Amino acid sequence: MESSPPPVIAIDGPSAAGKGTVAQGVAGKLGFHYLNSGALYRAVALAALESGADLENEAKLSDITLNLKANFDRDAVKLEGRDVTGVLMTERISSAASRIAAVAGVRTALLERQRGFRLPPGLVADGRDMGSVVFPDARLKIFLTASPEARAERRYKQLMDKGMNANMTALLQDIRERDKRDSVRAVAPLKKCADAVLLDSTGVPAGAVVTQVLALYEERVKMAP
Ligand code: DC
Repeated sequence: MESSPPPVIAIDGPSAAGKGTVAQGVAGKLGFHYLNSGALYRAVALAALESGADLENEAKLSDITLNLKANFDRDAVKLEGRDVTGVLMTERISSAASRIAAVAGVRTALLERQRGFRLPPGLVADGRDMGSVVFPDARLKIFLTASPEARAERRYKQLMDKGMNANMTALLQDIRERDKRDSVRAVAPLKKCADAVLLDSTGVPAGAVVTQVLALYEERVKMAP
């Protein structure tokens, strides 16, 4: 008898909705692996900028993506062995990542790599298309959102905690622009799938969202163990 693949919890939604914190919290409680797919897009963006590639050149970007020597080491992301965790969170990389994420060849080149994170006993994956494209058979799909203001504030605090400069007005404008670009792109646009559960984290602490997701997952497991 063929064994079923490890279960996946897909958490999608716009940037700074708290997906990473919630996904890591859920993964920690369940002892599951964690995939931060945004970090992969950010690593591709950094590699592309460093190589001087034109961010519209699909063939070049696909090549960079396929040859990307990035790995996750707990919370740290390494590119060719170099710790790039801090750099990946800068607004320069956020903006470039949103641009390269609209390139079909980049998305295709990242597909199998993302699926490689699906290991026993299970995976919590966060991104934009985890439930719609990468893991369409996910046991539970969440679409986590929050108001643009709450998300700008979250990003502001994250940057401040890292000792970086930030400006609320610029962050809010950037979030709105990125939402638009991520939602209108032709390939894998950001949108809630019909079978995803919508959760709004505006004013809700991350711990409470983790509890909600765990309860929803338990329900699913009870329905089909
Ligand atoms: O989640 P994040 O902000 O770190 O993602 C960075 C960019 O990558 C964001 O603009 C959208 C894109 N992205 C994507 O298109 N698909 C994913 N699964 C994850 C991120």
